[in-house]
Amino acid sequence: MVYKQVVRRALFGMHGGDAERVHETTLNVMAKLSPLAKFARNQNNPRTVFGVRFPNPVGLAAGLDKDGRALPAWAALGFGFVEVGTVTWHAQPGNPKPRLFRLREDEAIINRMGFNNAGAQALAEKLDRTTLKAPLGISLGKSKITPVEDAVQDYLNSLNALKNHGDYYAINVSSPNTPGLRSLQDKGALTELVQELTKATTKPMLVKIAPDLTDDAVEEVIQVCLDNGIKGLIATNTTLGREGLSSAHKTEAGGLSGKPLAQRANDVVQFITKNSELPVIGVGGIATADDAKRMIDAGASLVQIYTGFIYEGPGLVSRINRALR
Ligand SMILES: Cc1cc2nc3c(=O)[nH]c(=O)nc-3n(C[C@H](O)[C@H](O)[C@H](O)COP(=O)(O)O)c2cc1C
Repeated sequence: MVYKQVVRRALFGMHGGDAERVHETTLNVMAKLSPLAKFARNQNNPRTVFGVRFPNPVGLAAGLDKDGRALPAWAALGFGFVEVGTVTWHAQPGNPKPRLFRLREDEAIINRMGFNNAGAQALAEKLDRTTLKAPLGISLGKSKITPVEDAVQDYLNSLNALKNHGDYYAINVSSPNTPGLRSLQDKGALTELVQELTKATTKPMLVKIAPDLTDDAVEEVIQVCLDNGIKGLIATNTTLGREGLSSAHKTEAGGLSGKPLAQRANDVVQFITKNSELPVIGVGGIATADDAKRMIDAGASLVQIYTGFIYEGPGLVSRINRALR
């Protein structure tokens, strides 16, 4: 209540409503609050998934803290794990602004950030100086300047720079904002990519998929993962779909997240867990404890939140944990 009526109102109105500037300011404040992390209270609902022990099943989804600027603060807010990135081998500025839009009436976001990040080496240096009281996932993507044909080496470079830092790695082949990236979900390209990446580390490697794949395509991804030592799937990334939206920004290009994605993300998680034993991190449109329960009922072993966190505030993390305990 306090979050929505006071904090959110102030945040959403700040910087003339420029969503990205608000995001930057909030992240800077969070980074300053990181010393508070010694009071972290996230050890409340432990479980072991793909060989990693998680203090609780509620994670921060990739993209919110791409460069790992406020890591200890996330544990202090109760998150059971954090996924940083997506990072790329080459540092890159991302797409021209504006590129982040709140769709308030739809409790959604459209973004076309385009993997703005300081690069894998900078993240490695940052992580050398950081202690996090929760498992760390590292999301890897392809640099924009690298042609899709050379994607494998680009991902490998990032993995090698970061191979001592992550508890698991997410191969992101599902962002809609890097031209050609989603084609890496195709059988041949994905097989080559996961074979090379799984060879380079013994740590758990996961693949993050789009909600816009057909059932047949998801089945193919599952098979490639099972055949090549992938330890789990993250479902789902943002969607290119625009059904049922009413907000002014609904025609912006980019990936849609939040409430309108919930049902599709759930369906994809259920499809994967019905058709395989691969553990799944369920993500997409979780804005309440009941949404998280539905994701777990669909078969997810862990959940992640991004857009729900923006709209509902940090209290959502503990509400979900209480409900799932
Ligand atoms: C602004 C923004 C940036 C994102 N950046 C990334 C990213 O870099 N890598 C990634 O795998 N997913 C990224 N995502 C997708 C989220 O991790 C998540 O899969 C998606 O938003 C669905 O969850 P949600 O409905 O809880 O937001 C981003 C989402 C948003 C809203």
